Amino acid sequence: MIRYDDSANGVEPHQLSGFFESWRNHPTPETHLELLHRSDAVVLAIDTETNAVVGFVTAISDGVLAAYIPLLEVLPAYRNRGVGTELVTRVVDRLCDLYMVDVVCDAPLLPFYETLGFRAGTAAVIRRHARQGGASAPALTA
Ligand SMILES: CC(C)(COP(=O)(O)OP(=O)(O)OC[C@H]1O[C@@H](n2cnc3c(N)ncnc32)[C@H](O)[C@@H]1OP(=O)(O)O)[C@@H](O)C(=O)NCCC(=O)NCCS
Repeated sequence: MIRYDDSANGVEPHQLSGFFESWRNHPTPETHLELLHRSDAVVLAIDTETNAVVGFVTAISDGVLAAYIPLLEVLPAYRNRGVGTELVTRVVDRLCDLYMVDVVCDAPLLPFYETLGFRAGTAAVIRRHARQGGASAPALTA
């Protein structure tokens, strides 16, 4: 069975194995846990038998108008059974008072997000692949 949690409190790095599939230089489980703690909202899908995190979504927000969903992933063995839909539904519910909620995705995934209430837009992005493992602190300049 899968349970959903809107906090990463109590999660240990060893529960975060197998994510960032196909990333060349992916974050360690420790860095993954840090980004979960530092996000404004998270939802985790946890296999109740193994206690492993099998899916997660994060959101970052100003808490006034805008939120962005940077990361969503479900482990391959758990896909196509509604876990991704549940994660996005739950995080969007948590952002329901905000004017704008944005996600950037590849074109084939648009129908997935459209089903969940998003509509197609146009995005401009920067991607620094050398930083895929995580920022060197301090990540933000004043
Ligand atoms: C996208 C993702 C989170 C969906 O998780 P999931 O638990 O399988 O989602 P659900 O079971 O709720 O829904 C699956 C639906 O998404 C569609 N889908 C998933 N990945 C897709 C892809 N790469 N291209 C097109 N459709 C995709 C499935 O076809 C399915 O559609 P259907 O319900 O009409 O059959 C999962 O495939 C994943 O982790 N992918 C790799 C990471 C990723 O792409 N993240 C999104 C970043 S924007």
